[in-house]
Amino acid sequence: MEKLRAAILGATGMVGQRFITILSTHPWFEVTVVAASPRSAGKTYEEAVGDRWKMDVPMPEAVKKLVVMNVNEVAAVASQVDFCFSAVDMTKDEIRAIEEAYAKTETPVVSNNSAHRWTPDVPMVVPEINPEHMDVIEFQKKRLGTQRGFIAVKPNCSIQAYAPVFTAWMEYEPYEAIVSTYQAISGAGKTFKDWPEMEGNIIPYIGGEEEKSEKEPLRLWGKIENGVIVPATSPVITSQCIRVPVLNGHTASVFVKLKKKATKEELIEKMVNFSGEPQKLQLPSAPKQFIQYLEEDNRPQVALDVDYEGGMGVSVGRLREDSVYDWKFVGLAHNTLRGAAGGAVLCAELLKAKGYITAK
Ligand SMILES: NC(=O)c1ccc[n+]([C@@H]2O[C@H](COP(=O)([O-])OP(=O)(O)OC[C@H]3O[C@@H](n4cnc5c(N)ncnc54)[C@H](OP(=O)(O)O)[C@@H]3O)[C@@H](O)[C@H]2O)c1
Repeated sequence: MEKLRAAILGATGMVGQRFITILSTHPWFEVTVVAASPRSAGKTYEEAVGDRWKMDVPMPEAVKKLVVMNVNEVAAVASQVDFCFSAVDMTKDEIRAIEEAYAKTETPVVSNNSAHRWTPDVPMVVPEINPEHMDVIEFQKKRLGTQRGFIAVKPNCSIQAYAPVFTAWMEYEPYEAIVSTYQAISGAGKTFKDWPEMEGNIIPYIGGEEEKSEKEPLRLWGKIENGVIVPATSPVITSQCIRVPVLNGHTASVFVKLKKKATKEELIEKMVNFSGEPQKLQLPSAPKQFIQYLEEDNRPQVALDVDYEGGMGVSVGRLREDSVYDWKFVGLAHNTLRGAAGGAVLCAELLKAKGYITAK
């Protein structure tokens, strides 16, 4: 099978590097264009990244000699690829504008950025949870005046450790939850080398993260009405997000109230058997089992469990009844794999499987 040609916008950054790494062995997609700021344009990828390579595997040979293009030269980049992944760091307005400019060149954009997460006709998708939101793309294309160009996004990394669990429990009607997240430093694009102050430290603030943690799950559970996504109104979530000295892996401590009674066994059974279109279609990046439940009292642990299912699965443990809320548990998900580049690649695979991304 001919591979689809992909550009990475923001290829030199941390998320861009993660895209490059994941896609180096991808069966359907091939990175043929790397693009970044004018500072990097014209250099080889290897030169442009220099000592900023943050992955724990070496830079793939196939990209080292690619000459970095300027993200802002939209027509030139778009003419060479079938679609693109976006991980540029610009202002929200600039990102909204440039992603739309790519879509208007008939180049689908699968974005890791938050800029379009609340654009009413842009689907924000976790493929196991709300694949049907991709139907809104037809309305978006009408607005943009495109045939094949559109934008699709994935949600924030912080919600991946609990939103899948609530989805698995929807028949028990979760209606109120408290979520505290303990978030890794790679979520800020950092390693301990460039953020030594985080060693042995905790910072009780991550800009914008609490609102995303509370509101984005509601959009995943929303419905398409009159060509736009209308978010759900329940369960209401209140959240506190804390930066912790961990490289990869966001942990969530969760308390939840359910309208309908359930036993612990039933809740575990719903979690471990929860699957969706990625599993049915056997998409290349799909975890075989999306949510695992760990019985040991000291799990999930970042060191032991963050790479479950290649970093694309969610690990849950410590499910027990609570004296104030109904249930409490701890969830863990990999923030730069399931939560960022891996989640976007899985979205792109589903978009290809549904016929939205094709060869130009
Ligand atoms: N890190 C995460 O886990 C994570 C998770 C979710 C979302 N995000 C979001 O993903 C985006 C990328 O994050 P990151 O951590 O990978 O950032 P990063 O390491 O700072 O990389 C930013 C990328 O954007 C490019 N860029 C910066 N300014 C630009 C400009 N004015 N014009 C064109 N390109 C420009 C950079 O190119 P140069 O190398 O040439 O400067 C680089 O390729 C951000 O919007 C971030 O909020 C990150």
